Amino acid sequence: MNLKFGLLIASSLTLFTGRATAANSSLPEITVKGNAFFDSSSGDRFYIRGVDYQPGGSSNLTDPLADEETCTRDVAAFKDLGINTVRVYTVDNTLDHSACMDMLAEAGIYLILDVNTPDSSISRFNPGCSYNAAYLQSVFATIDCFANYTNVLGFFAGNEVINNADNTNTATYVKAVVRDMKKYLRARGYRQIPVGYSAADVSSNRVLAANYFNCGDDADARIDMFGVNDYSWCGASSFQTSGYATKMQLYKNYSIPIFLSEFGCNEVPGSRPFTEIGSIYSTQMSSVFSGGLVYEYSNESNNYGLVDIDNSTSVTKLQDFENLKNQYAKVSDPTGNGGYSSSNNYSSCPSYQSGTWEANNTLPAMPSQASIFFSKGAGDPMGTGYPTQDMCDSDVDFNVTSASSSITSASSSSSSSAQTSSTAASSSSDNSTLTAPSTSATSSKKASSKSKGGAASLQVPLVIKLIANVLLF
Ligand SMILES: *[C@@H]1O[C@H](CO)[C@@H](O)[C@H](O)[C@H]1NC(C)=O
Ligand SMILES: *[C@@H]1O[C@H](CO)[C@@H](O)[C@H](O)[C@H]1NC(C)=O
Ligand SMILES: *[C@@H]1O[C@H](CO)[C@@H](O)[C@H](O)[C@H]1NC(C)=O
Ligand SMILES: *[C@@H]1O[C@H](CO)[C@@H](O)[C@H](O)[C@H]1NC(C)=O
Ligand SMILES: *[C@@H]1O[C@H](CO)[C@@H](O)[C@H](O)[C@H]1NC(C)=O
Ligand SMILES: *[C@@H]1O[C@H](CO)[C@@H](O)[C@H](O)[C@H]1NC(C)=O
Ligand SMILES: *[C@@H]1O[C@H](CO)[C@@H](O)[C@H](O)[C@H]1NC(C)=O
Ligand SMILES: *[C@@H]1O[C@H](CO)[C@@H](O)[C@H](O)[C@H]1NC(C)=O
Ligand SMILES: *[C@@H]1O[C@H](CO)[C@@H](O)[C@H](O)[C@H]1NC(C)=O
Ligand SMILES: *[C@@H]1O[C@H](CO)[C@@H](O)[C@H](O)[C@H]1NC(C)=O
Repeated sequence: MNLKFGLLIASSLTLFTGRATAANSSLPEITVKGNAFFDSSSGDRFYIRGVDYQPGGSSNLTDPLADEETCTRDVAAFKDLGINTVRVYTVDNTLDHSACMDMLAEAGIYLILDVNTPDSSISRFNPGCSYNAAYLQSVFATIDCFANYTNVLGFFAGNEVINNADNTNTATYVKAVVRDMKKYLRARGYRQIPVGYSAADVSSNRVLAANYFNCGDDADARIDMFGVNDYSWCGASSFQTSGYATKMQLYKNYSIPIFLSEFGCNEVPGSRPFTEIGSIYSTQMSSVFSGGLVYEYSNESNNYGLVDIDNSTSVTKLQDFENLKNQYAKVSDPTGNGGYSSSNNYSSCPSYQSGTWEANNTLPAMPSQASIFFSKGAGDPMGTGYPTQDMCDSDVDFNVTSASSSITSASSSSSSSAQTSSTAASSSSDNSTLTAPSTSATSSKKASSKSKGGAASLQVPLVIKLIANVLLF
């Protein structure tokens, strides 16, 4: 990224239009109104018909949007399937995504992007420490990479960070990240792209989490959309039997869009029939839900795939792919506005309940060192393998008045334990019957650091680099 260029342009703009100028093709932006999404051009309600796009699987998270060849392979399959959205769990913000983003746009496909990487994310084990300026630099740099594409439907600030009954305290920090992202978008003059959270389906706290992320008088701290990873419809189930009917009741007053950010239970013999499509895209659910994303495009070791990847140019479509394609073809969206609601109020904040809901309604202030990004942009992206999880904010004290100088101590403290804690922070899936099979970057850390340089060596230089990036131009 050319920061200097960006700054000059930015400072000479008096009016921000919010339209991408960089992207080749563009789709109309999707906007949020009440509890639904709308196509800003046609005014039609927008239902997410999507798949989770995670080739390599949660155990080897890779950026699928930086390789034109594999995007060409996969976008063709997406078109055949008939989808309008993909969700990507992690990207490398040092890479060029324009070819894939344009290809998606030309195919009429939107992106929901998780902004975390396995190394730069909120840690379940040390959430306070993992929320720091270096982490936010990574998140903001990813926003810089994608905010200009009009086919970015939204960002997820976190995925399944709460994946159990006993880590609800992490929500405080995820919500702080939501707030910081929304403020950053505005400060940088970007379109106000929806920022959301993708929740594991934990029965003891699913409603508490939904309410928490959508509560409080600070609109910046409230999410704009809520994704639920829900595997409750298995095989030829039904609206009632699956529990979808109950979920409708649970969320019926919710004031913002909800969608299934992962669905597609595979605990069935043979292939998945995907009969839930008939409910999801019908008036049974359209007053509350705005579609969803099937987990997942490629077949990985957890056996959820729609296709087998043969090589970089070819996939084999599995029976699941054909079943899902047939369901999509058979089921059209509800007519009109689907009974959406624009009059619900945001939620009341759940109070602290020891053992049940331990998130704090007083969010931590953004680390002060990060405020420079609001005025200058995030600077050079650091890519993946940038271990920020144990970089306690209190340990980092960069002197922004002097680029060449003093990184006071400490920022280097993090690396050795980063490995441990983030490994432990891993995965919702391996060890829980409550939660979904996926893991995004937020939670997962089986992915190796495929980075430039490796964890330890990045510690001090990155802070220096950060300062240099924002000051030396
Ligand atoms: C995004 O678009 C704005 C306005 O056109 C432009 O100033 C900026 O450089 C673009 N950013 C990127 C990363 O392309
Ligand atoms: C846009 O993309 C298409 C297909 O990739 C290409 O043929 C066309 O030249 C591009 N247009 C611009 C202005 O870059
Ligand atoms: C992880 O993904 C990368 C990039 O796609 C690939 O080169 C590598 O072989 C994969 N590693 C494993 C263990 O599957
Ligand atoms: C929804 O809101 C109505 C009106 O405020 C209230 O009576 C009802 O109890 C709420 N239902 C749920 C499930 O929160
Ligand atoms: C998906 O991958 C798993 C693990 O490699 C394999 O056991 C399974 O047979 C594959 N499923 C299909 C339908 O190819
Ligand atoms: C990719 O796999 C397909 C199907 O197996 C095969 O026909 C094709 O030759 C392969 N291409 C390459 C480059 O290996
Ligand atoms: C929203 O809040 C206002 C003011 O508290 C109240 O009058 C109204 O009934 C609420 N609407 C719903 C749908 O709960
Ligand atoms: C909530 O956060 C505030 C401000 O950081 C702090 O003073 C308070 O102790 C926290 N409460 C709990 C229960 O963690
Ligand atoms: C920052 O660095 C400048 C130049 O070295 C120094 O004068 C100033 O006192 C430093 N500020 C802090 C807060 O350390
Ligand atoms: C689940 O976690 C527990 C405690 O961390 C561990 O002892 C157990 O081996 C794990 N089970 C699986 C299947 O990973």
